[in-house]
Amino acid sequence: MTDDSRPAPPRDRTAAVIPAAGRGVRLGPGAPKALRTLNGMPMFIHAARALAASRSVTLVVVVAPPDGAPEVKSLLDTYALPANAPGEGWGSADFLVVPGGDNRQESVRRGLEALPQDIDIVLVHDAARPLVPVETVDAVIGAVRAGAPAVVPALPLADTVKEIAPAAPGDPEPVVATPERARLRAVQTPQGFDRATLLRAHENAPVDGEGATDDAGLVERLGEPVVLVPGHEEAFKVTRPLDLVLAEAVLARRRVNDGY
Ligand code: CTP
Ligand code: MG
Repeated sequence: MTDDSRPAPPRDRTAAVIPAAGRGVRLGPGAPKALRTLNGMPMFIHAARALAASRSVTLVVVVAPPDGAPEVKSLLDTYALPANAPGEGWGSADFLVVPGGDNRQESVRRGLEALPQDIDIVLVHDAARPLVPVETVDAVIGAVRAGAPAVVPALPLADTVKEIAPAAPGDPEPVVATPERARLRAVQTPQGFDRATLLRAHENAPVDGEGATDDAGLVERLGEPVVLVPGHEEAFKVTRPLDLVLAEAVLARRRVNDGY
């Protein structure tokens, strides 16, 4: 009997949680940010497809605006139809929709609660990063599979960053420090985790205040190691109006390059 005849060892099962429950205050008035469209398709659908495009991802949990779960469900049904999903496929991932909370940390927690027991690796990905390439998703999953409990895609900074002290409204802000730029990284998503580590991180997270904007930060609080892998410029977060212009331009470039 050759090695080839043995069944393949079971793969780690990977799920993606997509927090999409934010209002998008910085984007300005309109629908909740994740429901705003890019090239005619809601932003969270772009994000869900980007994660489902990874062959490793078997389940995508979309965390909808608190009163928007039925709408998010029906949009997923609409866009998951093969006729509406040209180009890169959806893979064979299943989808779940749960209602979100008052801040991102609470929304992610609700997404984690919806995970079935057989999931080993969890990705957390902002709906507001709709254009992340599948290569970045796979690089994060690969690093978790290789043994890192928490993996974050990150890029060097273009701007120098200054630490400031709080000032009264309208007063100039005093600078207290200028960290060396070469040692700083801007972090993106999807962040990838060993499931047990991420659950423990959220169980131990403080629940008061604004909540964490970064899941890996909660793992750092446990004293567990967090490692970075290269991020991607197309994984930028749609935050302000100009980001919509950039996102549409990236999609237009892809249509030219990929012919769809
Ligand atoms: N998010 C969430 N639940 C919240 C707040 C944010 O699921 N209560 C999600 C957003 O939908 C987004 C991601 O967390 O996909 C990153 O948050 P951010 O970019 O800050 O989005 P918003 O909170 O929607 O934007 P803003 O802060 O400008 O209101
Ligand atoms: Mg926000």
